[in-house]
Amino acid sequence: MNRQQWGTRAGFILAAVGSAVGLGNIWRFPYVAYENGGGAFLIPYLFALLTAGIPILIMEFTLGHKYRGSAPLSFFRAGGKRAEWLGWWGVLVAFVISTYYAVIIAWAMRYTLFSFNLAWGDDTESFLFADFLKLDVAPGETGGIVWGVLIPLILVWVITLGILLKGVKKGIEIANRIFIPTLVILFLIIVVRAVTLEGAATGLNAFFEPNFSEIMNPSVWVAAYGHIFFSLSIAFAIMITYSSYLPKKSDITNNAFITGFANSGFELLAGIGVFAALGFMATQLSVPVDEVASAGVGLAFVVFPQIINQFPGFNGFFGVLFFLSLTLAGLTSLMSITETYVAGVTEKFGVTRNKAVILGGGLAATISILFATQGGLFFLDLADYYINQFGVAAVGLVEVIMVVWILRKTNTLQTHANLTSDIHLGGWWKICLGFVTPVVLGYMMFGLLKLNILQQFDNDTGNYEGYSNAFTLFGGVAVAAFALIAGILFSIGKWGKNYSDFKDTN
Ligand code: ALA
Repeated sequence: MNRQQWGTRAGFILAAVGSAVGLGNIWRFPYVAYENGGGAFLIPYLFALLTAGIPILIMEFTLGHKYRGSAPLSFFRAGGKRAEWLGWWGVLVAFVISTYYAVIIAWAMRYTLFSFNLAWGDDTESFLFADFLKLDVAPGETGGIVWGVLIPLILVWVITLGILLKGVKKGIEIANRIFIPTLVILFLIIVVRAVTLEGAATGLNAFFEPNFSEIMNPSVWVAAYGHIFFSLSIAFAIMITYSSYLPKKSDITNNAFITGFANSGFELLAGIGVFAALGFMATQLSVPVDEVASAGVGLAFVVFPQIINQFPGFNGFFGVLFFLSLTLAGLTSLMSITETYVAGVTEKFGVTRNKAVILGGGLAATISILFATQGGLFFLDLADYYINQFGVAAVGLVEVIMVVWILRKTNTLQTHANLTSDIHLGGWWKICLGFVTPVVLGYMMFGLLKLNILQQFDNDTGNYEGYSNAFTLFGGVAVAAFALIAGILFSIGKWGKNYSDFKDTN
């Protein structure tokens, strides 16, 4: 069976940027930054980007290009059974993320329509929680289905799986060629408008002002790493899968830099746009910036409509631009997240691609209905927090240890990348992967684990968001543990015979 391939270099870069630029940049970044000390977050964020994000992105591009397989197959080819489970762990983390990621896109789609007549009214908070999400159950209860979310959710899955059924070149590549340039134009219009609003500078000061009292808190650091990985689409199987579709003679490092900087540029731009708009709102209401933002997953859907209400003109138009951008950015990322398990299942179980799309995507779509219930928001918040701290960030940590210290592949990967790339990898890359990332992330992860365990015995500090122990355990810890355990289980058994003809050429 011939492996699928990208049609052009630009097609691959657009798809990789499309994967990286997503809800993480626009919906997640502002609220994670807010929950982790606002400006305090920027220092660990930049540190994690430069010492872990970009180096791991280069490593994943090289792994995929060299071993030409989904994440589990690439790890299997690099290190046999002792490495395969790690690829599956990443795939399972991606699977979990896809189930709630699709729901946020569904909200964004719905909000695009609400924008036309500013249907959210003046009290955008109660509109989101009471009128739209119908959140009147306790955390841990599901309540009934919310049709206003379920219907766009079905549409999200139909579009995503429809594109994946068309394949890599005719589906994913073409969709990104259309969606990404559109997204860039829409988003630039919004940001330019935001920074020229009255009071924008106040918001930007809040964003760029470092808060040193938060800087030694391990949870801020793990959140920064988790977010960088989420945002760059690394440590959950995506970039390995995407680069496995590159033709043999392809640049690796330069493509990784373009992807990484495009993503962070977009994210910082989004941060600037969001905080400028927050500054504007704070000025309108004559309150400090940190009082206008509500923390949590609702930030974009509570604060943005409020800001749009206050815009001096063309309110509905800017609302549509913002939520349409969110929808497009989300769709191009969801395709890549879903592609990880489509590729893994196709190769491991020897089924056709179409079957893997229908079965894998269908299962994820079915599970995602949980987040379209009245209690869905609580489940989503908890799953997002745990799967990032103990899924994405943990996979990233284990991945660098595996590649550098267990499989000892840095020299091999360096030689491979340098053969076809414009920019040559040197010592900094190895130092970041082999020392800086394992030491800093490992230390912070250990601190966070200790904190989490201590919290179980300390009623004063409580759990994440004050959720009950039982809900935290089943809705968060168990979800993160599931990804790891299911990953190990998937690695048992042989590979489909179509994929045994691989020759490692260099
Ligand atoms: N990288 C994707 C995002 O930022 C998953 O949303």
